[in-house]
Amino acid sequence: MENQQIHKGLFGVTVDQTAVSKVMAETNSLTYRGYPVEELCEHATFEEVAYLMWHGELPNSEQLAHFTDTERGRRGLTKEQLGLLDTFADDAHPMDVLRAGLAALGAEKDRGFADAVDAQRDHAMSLLAKIPTFIAADHRRRKGLDAVSPRANLGFSENFLYMMTGEVPAPEVVKAFDVSMILYAEHGFNASTFTCRVIASTLSDLNSAITGGIGALKGPLHGGANEAVMYMLLDIDGPDAGKAWVEDALANKKKIMGFGHRVYRSGDSRVPTMRKYLRGLAMMSDRMDLIETMDAVEGTMLDAKNIYPNVDFVAGPAYYLMGIEIDFYTPLFVMSRITGWCAHYFEQIGDNRLIRPLAAYTGPSQRRVATLNLR
Ligand code: COA
Repeated sequence: MENQQIHKGLFGVTVDQTAVSKVMAETNSLTYRGYPVEELCEHATFEEVAYLMWHGELPNSEQLAHFTDTERGRRGLTKEQLGLLDTFADDAHPMDVLRAGLAALGAEKDRGFADAVDAQRDHAMSLLAKIPTFIAADHRRRKGLDAVSPRANLGFSENFLYMMTGEVPAPEVVKAFDVSMILYAEHGFNASTFTCRVIASTLSDLNSAITGGIGALKGPLHGGANEAVMYMLLDIDGPDAGKAWVEDALANKKKIMGFGHRVYRSGDSRVPTMRKYLRGLAMMSDRMDLIETMDAVEGTMLDAKNIYPNVDFVAGPAYYLMGIEIDFYTPLFVMSRITGWCAHYFEQIGDNRLIRPLAAYTGPSQRRVATLNLR
């Protein structure tokens, strides 16, 4: 075992097959079940993409109507589920609240491990429908406001933004949000998805897998970057200060959040589409200065390190311009990625083998317990 090859961070290791999405670093592109994400963003809704994730094909009108009716019918939370929010401090991080809330959202009845695909999809549907209601209620609770009940005549994104503010937002805002949901939905064997698959491989239940995924996503090297990007942009004193800010951070060996990617080395497939909608939001809200600051940061990163922005660099500011509190950005990522996580859960248990890698031991050589050591 002494010459074991170590793949730190599983870099470059292919651990299994998947038919859910394909990340193509060589062309900076991404497909879900074969469809390019940018085409899905232009021609499909997030609900259609969720269906695609779980069924492998885009829905026809009848299938879509059934899917959306079911999702809309399950958005409500019980008094007890909403009451859980009151047990958290006002400044508890929303990802911690969501991780705890998920236990309550999934504990409606003892589902345990369900190996029938329909039962798994049914469970996934409840999570997809209820998680946004929980997040929106938490967002309002922290402002001292009562929860707004979901409306069954609104689509997924429209309803979520309505539950956050009590008002139906402009169609441009809804579309930008829906696009962010589509772009965040799935991305190969990323850290949180792999976490879900590890948990699935023990034949644990879907809720446990999703709870694990939330824990992995929270970290700033993964989903937490969308929040960190916005704190960074707010810390930079306008477009003229962008270059010096980045140079100073790099000189201090800091990582610039929203830049770099384990798979993409010359650009993230999701950035151009999200950037287009971000610019639309900035124009609508007369905040082109934010775009100019971002351009300064991006230009400096390219000059200094040749490192490109990832999707979090453009999604975080888009949520900011929608008026969403910064520490809710990663929970929004959960709202979307739940579709990918569940698809991977189904795929893993459909052809399962326990995920159990090896480690090269570096501790002390084998030794004896001497009587002296026990005193
Ligand atoms: N800012 C500054 N330098 C960066 C960087 C960043 N955002 N991302 C990578 N680098 C540098 C590293 O310091 C390293 O340089 P070195 O070889 O001189 O030590 C080199 O690029 C390789 O980076 P590494 O961290 O080893 O790549 P990785 O594949 O292990 O990590 C990320 C990928 C995403 C974790 C990393 O790019 C990162 O931390 N980005 C910031 C967080 C972020 O935006 N996460 C969201 C990802 S979608």
